[in-house]
Amino acid sequence: MSSHGDPIPMTSTKCGPLNGVAKVPGDKSISHRSLILGALCVGETTITGLLEGQDVLDTATAMRAFGAEVVNHGDGKWSVHGVGVGGFAEPDQVIDCGNSGTGARLIMGAMATCPIVATFTGDTSLNKRPMARITEPLLQFGAQSFGRSSGRLPMTLVGAVEPIPVNYVVPVPSAQVKSAVLLAGLNAPGETVVIEAEDTRDHTERMLAAFGAEIKTKVSDAGRVITLQGQPELTPLHIDVPRDPSSAAFPVCAALIVPGSDVLVPTIGLNPTRAGLFDTLREMGADLTYENERTEGGEPVADLRARFSPNLIGIEVPAHRAASMIDEYPVFSVVASFANGTTHMAGVKELRVKESDRIEAMAAGLRAAGVSVEDGPDWWTIVGMGHGNVPGGASCESYLDHRIAMAFMVMGMAANAPITIDDVGPIATSFPIFEPLMVRLGADLSRV
Ligand code: S3P
Repeated sequence: MSSHGDPIPMTSTKCGPLNGVAKVPGDKSISHRSLILGALCVGETTITGLLEGQDVLDTATAMRAFGAEVVNHGDGKWSVHGVGVGGFAEPDQVIDCGNSGTGARLIMGAMATCPIVATFTGDTSLNKRPMARITEPLLQFGAQSFGRSSGRLPMTLVGAVEPIPVNYVVPVPSAQVKSAVLLAGLNAPGETVVIEAEDTRDHTERMLAAFGAEIKTKVSDAGRVITLQGQPELTPLHIDVPRDPSSAAFPVCAALIVPGSDVLVPTIGLNPTRAGLFDTLREMGADLTYENERTEGGEPVADLRARFSPNLIGIEVPAHRAASMIDEYPVFSVVASFANGTTHMAGVKELRVKESDRIEAMAAGLRAAGVSVEDGPDWWTIVGMGHGNVPGGASCESYLDHRIAMAFMVMGMAANAPITIDDVGPIATSFPIFEPLMVRLGADLSRV
């Protein structure tokens, strides 16, 4: 079932070369944070290039419910009149975060140190996902949570009236947990410290600094130690959201496996905490180059050029790289199927608690398409069949997961027989223009 209506099945059929410029939408992580931090400033934050996917629209609605004025001026231009740190008003209605774990976890963090009560829910996928990972630190600030069994949504959070700053070692590699703690720390007096053993995306830290918070990161034996001084006055900003590397992954990977392709994806955010896929693809022999490397709005960006790469080789993807390509494993596993030799991915336990169990979802569809896959609790292995040898001809399920749906659509572009997916509706959460953009490049996608 689609998260927002009837299922939309789609078939992807082997196509001719993909060519042209792929202007993918704004970065999802940065878009959520722009709205939330904008809501925590006094004054007007302006945003261009905001991702207008359902996940981010749900966060915009939530920020309005907490009292911020969020206006869509059209064409990716938005403004937020915030309420100030600690100024969230109590919402009248349940906050529905739809399919978005990032929205739910970051907003719950931001409200946990405000003296208000709010109830959060989501779609069938989000309501299955673990929330104890954030309520555990939020309770330390003095908040209270009342959720379903195993700490799942729907959940009511009672914000701390007198928040206590927290010193928290993040037990799983998760930017969402780190960010929830930092956003809660904003309204606690004194210093909140977060320690992460593995580097995860650092957009929250960069953006907090840009909004004027006192935040420092130092590297210690225990990992990155991030110290935030609580109760700052955040100053509004203009944010130009770079295009999303996690969305760029789809046209890039498609170009690598479809013969004759040459695709340029301009202005892609290349924050090192997000660029693991592109490093890995280059190690496999992908013809992938960075052009015009530059910095925009505090984030490194470049134009990516991907060309058909017939001689990709299977690779060992180390556990330490997992966080920097965590959202890209579904489409990466498709590329690995077209490589020569075996690809092993280690340290990927977190894939089991995303919008779907992404190892199980991909393994099922890949096996149905004739690819040999093995998996364990925190690893999986794909036996690459080499260019031109992937049978395809499968019906796959997306499990309410946008990235699973897009990964199988990419597979159909190069497999020998078409791939059908049960529901592409979830794609609208992160990449609403996926279908027209890929068709313009040359993909053969048809609604069944
Ligand atoms: C995100 C962090 C990641 C990622 C998600 C977006 C973020 O989740 O999978 O799509 O914006 O902070 P985890 O932090 O749970 O790994």
